[in-house]
Amino acid sequence: MYFQNIIVFGTGYVGLVASACFANMGKSVVCTDNCIEKINALENHQIPIDEPQLPELLENAVKNQQLLFTINPEEYFEQADFFIIAVGTPSLADGSCDTSSVFAVAKQIGEKIVSSKVIIIKSTVPVGTGEQVENIVKAELQKRAIYDIEIFIVSNPEFLKEGSAIDDFLKPERIIIGVQCQEAYLKMKDLYKPLLDQGYQIIPMSIRSAELAKYAANAMLSMRISFMNEMSYLCEKAGANIEEIRLAIGSDMRIGKYFLKAGIGYGGSCFPKDNKALEFLGKKYDVPLSLISATIEANKNQQKIFLNKIIDFFEGGLNEKKISILGVAFKPNTNDTRHSPGLYFANELLKKGAHISLFDPLVTTKENNICLLKQETQNRFEISNSIENCTQNSSAIVLCTEWEEFQNLDFDFLSKNMCQKLFFDGRNQYTKKHAEKYGFTYISVGRP
Ligand code: UDX
Repeated sequence: MYFQNIIVFGTGYVGLVASACFANMGKSVVCTDNCIEKINALENHQIPIDEPQLPELLENAVKNQQLLFTINPEEYFEQADFFIIAVGTPSLADGSCDTSSVFAVAKQIGEKIVSSKVIIIKSTVPVGTGEQVENIVKAELQKRAIYDIEIFIVSNPEFLKEGSAIDDFLKPERIIIGVQCQEAYLKMKDLYKPLLDQGYQIIPMSIRSAELAKYAANAMLSMRISFMNEMSYLCEKAGANIEEIRLAIGSDMRIGKYFLKAGIGYGGSCFPKDNKALEFLGKKYDVPLSLISATIEANKNQQKIFLNKIIDFFEGGLNEKKISILGVAFKPNTNDTRHSPGLYFANELLKKGAHISLFDPLVTTKENNICLLKQETQNRFEISNSIENCTQNSSAIVLCTEWEEFQNLDFDFLSKNMCQKLFFDGRNQYTKKHAEKYGFTYISVGRP
């Protein structure tokens, strides 16, 4: 018999990683989702995301009876102390954050609980959501004439990065805990005790600050990238080298060396979505967040600038030209293609009449975005099963993701395999000198 003390709502990155990690810390975890297919798949050991260490941790937790998946979590509600909301909060058409799934979970909890609970919001949500969740839960309790139980609302945003999510969770740089009272804080300390015992620190704050902290962190990181991307274009025009600028400014301790790599723009599920939500929040409170708007704009420009380099090169047009895209995951070690620069280039080049062959170590035709593209473009688009097939008789390579597999490409082979020797390096993985040695015309980002 399980002693269920945590219920996790959501089987996306945040929900699955939290479930796996808390279960392996010795907690009993019930993980749920309103999508029955996802739960069925998880019960059959099929994990919807490719994340290092996650399969092993999930497998181990299930085997040790620390974790179970269910579509009907209500039967475990009474035994649970902590309810973790980790459902998706996608963008609405106006850029604002869609919190409807968070509120639906709050209602589900309020409709059933009969004793005091801690409700932890891990989903990225706008300032004030904690209060709204509390109101929803209390309104449901009132409907059932329950007035005497305490509800502790906590904001505990997740800062994990895809590809290193487990390490980010188990070796956190910070654990942000937003609470309204000391009692809730003590309960959270108890939950995180295994990590606190190893010396990891909680930073306690108000719920509103914790909610905003997540957006501020993502905004700061993406702003740095956009800044470097704008600098890279200036470097190209002014004859400087962005890699040298990066070294120069990154060695200043006040600036730091991380998140300064220029490239073809940031992608993924968080930066694009969260920046839009933050921009919206600024409008709501009538506070101009011009840096956020500029960050979003610069990211779009960066992709267009690189695209135009490709289009301009083919003065006679791209009709019938085969272009090889290496990497369609938005970054290495994930199969996530949300807001992926590689997909953007594939789409735009297809519109110009090109044939696209795409290779990525993890992304397959099963992936939704790829499936759609294939349906729309039929025979002008293919997913290759190897770099060799992808580049055969191709007119150009466009390197979009810095996968390890692409770091030691056999240029000698490529020069014989391709019909035109053109290399667009969106991630500055090689040098002009190296590519030219094999007869390639080499175009990268922010370098002379
Ligand atoms: C990000 C945040 O890092 C994480 O804290 C938050 O919880 C979720 O959003 P993630 O989207 O997984 O994580 O990826 P990250 O490694 O941050 O990269 C985001 C994008 O920025 C990628 O497209 C990456 O290629 C790009 N990037 C990153 C750069 O272009 N240059 C850099 O120097 C760093």
